[in-house]
Amino acid sequence: MNKTYKNYFGFSTEPFISDIHCQDILVTPEIEAVSERIQYAVRLGAIALITGEVGAGKSTALRWSLEQFHPSEYKTLWITATSGSILEFYRQLLRALDNDATSMSKAFYTRTIRKEVRELIKEKGQKPVVVVDEASLLRMEVLTELHTITQFEGDSKPWLPIILAGQINLEENLRYRKALPLASRVVARGSLDAVKKNEMDQYLSHHLSIAGMKTQLYTDAALTAIYQGSGGIYRKANNLARGALIAAAVDKASQVIPEHVQIASSEIF
Ligand SMILES: Nc1ncnc2c1ncn2[C@@H]1O[C@H](COP(=O)(O)OP(=O)(O)OP(=O)(O)O)[C@@H](O)[C@H]1O
Ligand SMILES: [Mg+2]
Repeated sequence: MNKTYKNYFGFSTEPFISDIHCQDILVTPEIEAVSERIQYAVRLGAIALITGEVGAGKSTALRWSLEQFHPSEYKTLWITATSGSILEFYRQLLRALDNDATSMSKAFYTRTIRKEVRELIKEKGQKPVVVVDEASLLRMEVLTELHTITQFEGDSKPWLPIILAGQINLEENLRYRKALPLASRVVARGSLDAVKKNEMDQYLSHHLSIAGMKTQLYTDAALTAIYQGSGGIYRKANNLARGALIAAAVDKASQVIPEHVQIASSEIF
Protein backbone atom coordinates (compact mmCIF):
# COMPACT_ATOMS: atom_id res chain seq x y z
CA MET A 1 0.00 0.00 0.00
CA ASN A 2 1.29 3.44 -0.94
CA LYS A 3 2.57 5.17 2.20
CA THR A 4 3.96 8.23 0.48
CA TYR A 5 0.56 9.93 0.49
CA LYS A 6 1.41 11.25 3.95
CA ASN A 7 4.42 13.13 2.56
CA TYR A 8 2.72 13.90 -0.74
CA PHE A 9 -0.02 15.89 0.99
CA GLY A 10 2.24 17.10 3.84
CA PHE A 11 0.55 15.51 6.86
CA SER A 12 2.49 15.79 10.11
CA THR A 13 1.09 12.48 11.41
CA GLU A 14 -0.87 9.58 9.94
CA PRO A 15 -4.43 10.78 9.28
CA PHE A 16 -7.58 8.91 10.35
CA ILE A 17 -5.82 6.74 12.92
CA SER A 18 -7.87 4.38 15.06
CA ASP A 19 -6.07 4.93 18.38
CA ILE A 20 -6.75 8.63 18.56
CA HIS A 21 -5.47 10.42 21.69
CA CYS A 22 -8.12 11.23 24.22
CA GLN A 23 -7.51 14.97 23.89
CA ASP A 24 -8.07 14.71 20.12
CA ILE A 25 -11.50 13.10 20.38
CA LEU A 26 -14.18 15.22 18.73
CA VAL A 27 -16.63 16.02 21.49
CA THR A 28 -20.00 15.75 19.80
CA PRO A 29 -23.41 16.23 21.45
CA GLU A 30 -23.80 12.43 21.17
CA ILE A 31 -20.60 11.84 23.16
CA GLU A 32 -21.75 14.35 25.77
CA ALA A 33 -25.10 12.56 26.01
CA VAL A 34 -23.31 9.23 26.54
CA SER A 35 -21.10 10.82 29.17
CA GLU A 36 -24.10 12.25 31.07
CA ARG A 37 -25.72 8.82 31.17
CA ILE A 38 -22.54 7.25 32.45
CA GLN A 39 -22.18 9.93 35.14
CA TYR A 40 -25.77 9.36 36.21
CA ALA A 41 -25.42 5.58 36.46
CA VAL A 42 -22.14 5.94 38.36
CA ARG A 43 -23.74 8.35 40.84
CA LEU A 44 -26.47 5.79 41.50
CA GLY A 45 -24.14 2.81 41.52
CA ALA A 46 -26.35 1.34 38.79
CA ILE A 47 -25.94 0.18 35.21
CA ALA A 48 -25.76 2.18 31.96
CA LEU A 49 -26.11 0.68 28.53
CA ILE A 50 -24.37 2.16 25.49
CA THR A 51 -25.17 0.58 22.15
CA GLY A 52 -24.49 1.29 18.52
CA GLU A 53 -23.42 0.04 15.13
CA VAL A 54 -19.97 -1.44 14.56
CA GLY A 55 -17.49 1.43 14.24
CA ALA A 56 -19.94 4.16 15.29
CA GLY A 57 -17.67 5.37 18.11
CA LYS A 58 -18.77 3.48 21.24
CA SER A 59 -15.30 2.70 22.60
CA THR A 60 -14.15 6.22 21.80
CA ALA A 61 -17.15 7.72 23.61
CA LEU A 62 -16.43 5.45 26.58
CA ARG A 63 -12.80 6.54 26.69
CA TRP A 64 -13.76 10.22 26.64
CA SER A 65 -16.50 9.76 29.25
CA LEU A 66 -14.17 7.93 31.62
CA GLU A 67 -11.56 10.66 31.27
CA GLN A 68 -14.08 13.00 32.89
CA PHE A 69 -13.79 11.09 36.18
CA HIS A 70 -10.96 12.29 38.36
CA PRO A 71 -8.40 9.47 38.72
CA SER A 72 -7.79 10.23 42.39
CA GLU A 73 -11.47 9.64 43.11
CA TYR A 74 -12.43 6.93 40.63
CA LYS A 75 -10.82 3.75 39.40
CA THR A 76 -11.92 2.50 36.01
CA LEU A 77 -12.05 -1.27 35.74
CA TRP A 78 -12.00 -1.71 31.97
CA ILE A 79 -12.94 -5.13 30.62
CA THR A 80 -13.03 -6.04 26.97
CA ALA A 81 -15.62 -8.79 27.01
CA THR A 82 -15.08 -12.20 25.48
CA SER A 83 -17.51 -14.99 24.77
CA GLY A 84 -15.91 -16.91 27.65
CA SER A 85 -17.46 -18.29 30.82
CA ILE A 86 -18.45 -16.39 33.94
CA LEU A 87 -15.18 -17.56 35.51
CA GLU A 88 -13.29 -15.89 32.69
CA PHE A 89 -15.27 -12.70 33.26
CA TYR A 90 -14.56 -12.73 36.99
CA ARG A 91 -10.88 -13.35 36.31
CA GLN A 92 -10.79 -10.28 34.04
CA LEU A 93 -12.57 -8.17 36.66
CA LEU A 94 -10.27 -9.30 39.43
CA ARG A 95 -7.26 -8.56 37.26
CA ALA A 96 -8.61 -5.06 36.63
CA LEU A 97 -8.62 -4.74 40.42
CA ASP A 98 -4.88 -5.53 40.31
CA ASN A 99 -5.31 -9.02 41.72
CA ASP A 100 -3.97 -11.83 39.51
CA ALA A 101 -5.34 -14.74 41.58
CA THR A 102 -7.06 -17.46 39.56
CA SER A 103 -9.44 -20.20 40.62
CA MET A 104 -12.04 -22.61 39.30
CA SER A 105 -14.50 -21.48 41.94
CA LYS A 106 -17.14 -18.78 41.41
CA ALA A 107 -17.43 -18.36 45.17
CA PHE A 108 -13.72 -17.58 45.38
CA TYR A 109 -14.01 -14.91 42.70
CA THR A 110 -17.12 -13.21 44.04
CA ARG A 111 -15.67 -13.19 47.56
CA THR A 112 -12.30 -11.83 46.40
CA ILE A 113 -13.82 -9.23 44.05
CA ARG A 114 -16.06 -7.95 46.87
CA LYS A 115 -13.07 -7.80 49.21
CA GLU A 116 -11.01 -5.84 46.67
CA VAL A 117 -13.90 -3.44 45.99
CA ARG A 118 -14.43 -2.86 49.71
CA GLU A 119 -10.72 -2.16 50.18
CA LEU A 120 -10.62 0.18 47.22
CA ILE A 121 -13.49 2.22 48.62
CA LYS A 122 -12.67 2.09 52.34
CA GLU A 123 -8.88 2.14 52.30
CA LYS A 124 -7.90 3.90 49.10
CA GLY A 125 -10.92 6.20 48.97
CA GLN A 126 -11.51 5.38 45.29
CA LYS A 127 -14.84 4.52 43.68
CA PRO A 128 -14.76 1.72 41.13
CA VAL A 129 -16.45 2.02 37.73
CA VAL A 130 -16.70 -1.23 35.79
CA VAL A 131 -16.72 -0.78 32.02
CA VAL A 132 -17.51 -3.77 29.86
CA ASP A 133 -16.76 -2.97 26.23
CA GLU A 134 -17.90 -5.44 23.54
CA ALA A 135 -20.56 -6.58 26.04
CA SER A 136 -22.67 -7.90 23.16
CA LEU A 137 -20.25 -10.85 23.18
CA LEU A 138 -21.15 -11.85 26.75
CA ARG A 139 -22.77 -15.22 27.10
CA MET A 140 -26.24 -15.45 28.63
CA GLU A 141 -24.60 -17.27 31.56
CA VAL A 142 -22.64 -14.08 32.31
CA LEU A 143 -25.62 -11.75 31.85
CA THR A 144 -27.61 -13.97 34.23
CA GLU A 145 -25.04 -13.74 37.01
CA LEU A 146 -23.44 -10.37 36.60
CA HIS A 147 -25.80 -8.53 38.96
CA THR A 148 -24.73 -10.72 41.88
CA ILE A 149 -21.30 -9.10 41.90
CA THR A 150 -22.89 -5.66 42.36
CA GLN A 151 -24.59 -6.70 45.60
CA PHE A 152 -22.94 -5.56 48.77
CA GLU A 153 -24.61 -6.09 52.11
CA GLY A 154 -27.84 -7.43 50.66
CA ASP A 155 -27.91 -4.96 47.77
CA SER A 156 -28.05 -1.95 50.07
CA LYS A 157 -24.65 -0.58 48.99
CA PRO A 158 -24.55 0.31 45.29
CA TRP A 159 -20.80 0.26 45.13
CA LEU A 160 -20.12 -1.24 41.76
CA PRO A 161 -21.61 0.68 38.82
CA ILE A 162 -21.31 -1.07 35.49
CA ILE A 163 -21.22 0.46 32.02
CA LEU A 164 -22.13 -2.08 29.36
CA ALA A 165 -21.26 -1.14 25.78
CA GLY A 166 -21.83 -3.17 22.67
CA GLN A 167 -23.72 -3.73 19.47
CA ILE A 168 -27.49 -3.51 19.27
CA ASN A 169 -27.99 -7.22 20.07
CA LEU A 170 -26.87 -6.45 23.62
CA GLU A 171 -30.25 -4.82 24.18
CA GLU A 172 -32.00 -7.88 22.81
CA ASN A 173 -29.95 -10.18 25.04
CA LEU A 174 -30.93 -8.14 28.08
CA ARG A 175 -34.61 -8.69 27.29
CA TYR A 176 -34.34 -12.41 28.04
CA ARG A 177 -36.02 -13.34 31.30
CA LYS A 178 -32.77 -14.76 32.68
CA ALA A 179 -31.07 -11.37 32.23
CA LEU A 180 -33.90 -9.48 33.98
CA PRO A 181 -32.09 -9.02 37.32
CA LEU A 182 -29.28 -7.30 35.43
CA ALA A 183 -31.58 -5.38 33.05
CA SER A 184 -33.65 -4.12 35.99
CA ARG A 185 -30.57 -2.29 37.28
CA VAL A 186 -30.13 -0.34 34.04
CA VAL A 187 -30.97 3.32 34.72
CA ALA A 188 -29.71 4.98 31.53
CA ARG A 189 -29.38 4.00 27.90
CA GLY A 190 -27.41 5.84 25.25
CA SER A 191 -26.72 5.02 21.64
CA LEU A 192 -24.28 6.03 18.95
CA ASP A 193 -25.71 5.77 15.49
CA ALA A 194 -24.94 6.91 11.98
CA VAL A 195 -24.21 10.64 11.90
CA LYS A 196 -25.67 13.25 9.54
CA LYS A 197 -23.78 14.68 6.54
CA ASN A 198 -22.81 17.96 8.22
CA GLU A 199 -21.55 16.03 11.28
CA MET A 200 -19.48 13.76 9.05
CA ASP A 201 -17.95 16.77 7.23
CA GLN A 202 -17.00 18.23 10.59
CA TYR A 203 -15.60 14.87 11.70
CA LEU A 204 -13.41 14.52 8.58
CA SER A 205 -12.07 18.07 8.92
CA HIS A 206 -11.30 17.35 12.55
CA HIS A 207 -9.24 14.28 11.65
CA LEU A 208 -7.42 16.20 8.93
CA SER A 209 -6.55 18.98 11.35
CA ILE A 210 -5.23 16.64 14.05
CA ALA A 211 -2.94 15.18 11.39
CA GLY A 212 -1.66 18.72 10.72
CA MET A 213 -3.67 19.48 7.58
CA LYS A 214 -5.23 22.94 7.47
CA THR A 215 -6.62 22.89 3.93
CA GLN A 216 -9.62 20.93 2.66
CA LEU A 217 -8.27 18.10 0.52
CA TYR A 218 -11.64 16.68 -0.52
CA THR A 219 -13.95 18.21 -3.10
CA ASP A 220 -17.58 18.60 -2.01
CA ALA A 221 -18.49 15.71 -4.28
CA ALA A 222 -15.80 13.53 -2.65
CA LEU A 223 -17.16 14.39 0.81
CA THR A 224 -20.60 13.32 -0.37
CA ALA A 225 -19.17 10.07 -1.74
CA ILE A 226 -17.43 9.36 1.59
CA TYR A 227 -20.61 10.09 3.48
CA GLN A 228 -22.71 7.85 1.26
CA GLY A 229 -20.13 5.06 1.27
CA SER A 230 -19.73 5.19 5.04
CA GLY A 231 -23.43 5.15 5.83
CA GLY A 232 -22.60 7.76 8.46
CA ILE A 233 -20.30 5.40 10.38
CA TYR A 234 -16.99 6.84 11.55
CA ARG A 235 -14.67 3.85 11.11
CA LYS A 236 -15.89 3.24 7.58
CA ALA A 237 -15.45 6.94 6.83
CA ASN A 238 -11.88 6.78 8.17
CA ASN A 239 -11.06 3.91 5.84
CA LEU A 240 -12.66 5.54 2.82
CA ALA A 241 -11.09 8.94 3.51
CA ARG A 242 -7.61 7.43 3.97
CA GLY A 243 -7.94 5.08 0.98
CA ALA A 244 -9.07 7.98 -1.19
CA LEU A 245 -6.00 10.00 -0.17
CA ILE A 246 -3.79 7.12 -1.26
CA ALA A 247 -5.59 6.91 -4.60
CA ALA A 248 -5.26 10.68 -5.08
CA ALA A 249 -1.53 10.57 -4.33
CA VAL A 250 -1.04 7.76 -6.84
CA ASP A 251 -2.92 9.96 -9.32
CA LYS A 252 -0.68 12.93 -8.41
CA ALA A 253 -3.88 14.91 -7.85
CA SER A 254 -4.04 17.99 -5.63
CA GLN A 255 -7.53 17.18 -4.36
CA VAL A 256 -9.52 14.04 -3.66
CA ILE A 257 -12.41 13.51 -6.07
CA PRO A 258 -15.25 10.92 -6.00
CA GLU A 259 -13.31 8.54 -8.29
CA HIS A 260 -10.63 8.24 -5.60
CA VAL A 261 -13.29 7.40 -3.03
CA GLN A 262 -14.64 4.82 -5.45
CA ILE A 263 -11.20 3.15 -5.69
CA ALA A 264 -10.95 3.11 -1.89
CA SER A 265 -14.39 1.58 -1.51
CA SER A 266 -13.43 -1.39 -3.64
CA GLU A 267 -10.84 -2.35 -1.01
CA ILE A 268 -12.93 -2.20 2.17
CA PHE A 269 -16.03 -3.90 3.58
N1 LIG B 1 -15.59 11.38 18.68
C1 LIG B 1 -14.62 10.94 17.87
N2 LIG B 1 -13.59 11.76 17.55
C2 LIG B 1 -12.62 11.35 16.71
N3 LIG B 1 -12.59 10.12 16.17
C3 LIG B 1 -13.58 9.25 16.48
C4 LIG B 1 -14.65 9.62 17.34
N4 LIG B 1 -15.49 8.56 17.46
C5 LIG B 1 -14.98 7.60 16.70
N5 LIG B 1 -13.83 8.00 16.11
C6 LIG B 1 -13.01 7.24 15.17
O1 LIG B 1 -13.79 6.18 14.68
C7 LIG B 1 -13.14 4.94 14.93
C8 LIG B 1 -14.18 3.91 15.35
O2 LIG B 1 -14.65 4.24 16.65
P1 LIG B 1 -14.76 3.15 17.81
O3 LIG B 1 -13.67 2.17 17.76
O4 LIG B 1 -14.97 3.93 19.06
O5 LIG B 1 -16.14 2.46 17.38
P2 LIG B 1 -16.93 1.30 18.12
O6 LIG B 1 -18.38 1.69 18.05
O7 LIG B 1 -16.35 1.06 19.46
O8 LIG B 1 -16.66 0.06 17.16
P3 LIG B 1 -16.81 -1.52 17.47
O9 LIG B 1 -18.29 -1.80 17.34
O10 LIG B 1 -16.01 -2.20 16.40
O11 LIG B 1 -16.28 -1.75 18.84
C9 LIG B 1 -12.10 5.22 15.99
O12 LIG B 1 -10.99 4.40 15.81
C10 LIG B 1 -11.75 6.68 15.77
O13 LIG B 1 -10.74 6.79 14.81
MG1 LIG C 1 -15.44 -0.62 20.23
